[in-house]
Amino acid sequence: TVYPDQRTASVTVAARIAKLIKAKAESGEKAVLGLATGVTPIAVYAELVRLHKEEGLSFKNVITFNLDEYFPMQPNAAQSYVTFMNENLFNHVDIDKNNVHIPDGTLPQEDVAEFCLNYERLIEEYGGLDFQLLGIGRTGHIGFNEPGSAPNSGTRLVTLDDLTRSDAARDFGGKQNVPTKAITMGVGTIFKAREIILMAWSQKKAPIVKKAVEGEISGEVPATYLQLSDNVEFVLDEGAASEL
Ligand code: GLP
Repeated sequence: TVYPDQRTASVTVAARIAKLIKAKAESGEKAVLGLATGVTPIAVYAELVRLHKEEGLSFKNVITFNLDEYFPMQPNAAQSYVTFMNENLFNHVDIDKNNVHIPDGTLPQEDVAEFCLNYERLIEEYGGLDFQLLGIGRTGHIGFNEPGSAPNSGTRLVTLDDLTRSDAARDFGGKQNVPTKAITMGVGTIFKAREIILMAWSQKKAPIVKKAVEGEISGEVPATYLQLSDNVEFVLDEGAASEL
């Protein structure tokens, strides 16, 4: 779906998430949301905060699982995805912090594999993801599933692509400070979500959006795997859609 601008698109996506949360609350159920970081979803989170403050949308029945985290990463670091989520969403709504899950960037490396298995298990225990929000990196990554990721991959420790580290350099005050690894949900984990929305804004994303939507399905561009699912919608502004 192509919207005239990212603000209209973001408000629409936030309204859909709010509808899901309310429907689940009315039937006494939890809403299990897979969340993304990056610049792309910021306006969606801002609108969810507005809906909480001005229209009483409650997050008491919401369980969240974030896609990824840098490794290693301290949660209180400015660049951590914990900080990002707290500042953009969690600190401003009534979510129970016990219901928030973000991959742990502080683990000793030998404990990461077990942590990842537990992350998968926990998602399943909550009945799976009702909804997954995605952005897209210029390498075609979703979460941090870089080129070479398998379609059935699970949550795991990955090595970041050079282009991804260049794109993150500004946040870290230089590429040399960007971690070389991350923990990410797998392509297979994402695929199990009952509804997936990938958002992309601006002409900068147009070439990778074209590859993701129209290109040959290949591990070289992990977002092309989304072509295999019936539960995926790309939500774009005119810039990001300009090469389709
Ligand atoms: C980051 C995140 C991804 C995100 C992507 C795009 O590295 N790990 O989940 O979708 O890069 O970021 P942005 O939205 O800032 O363009």
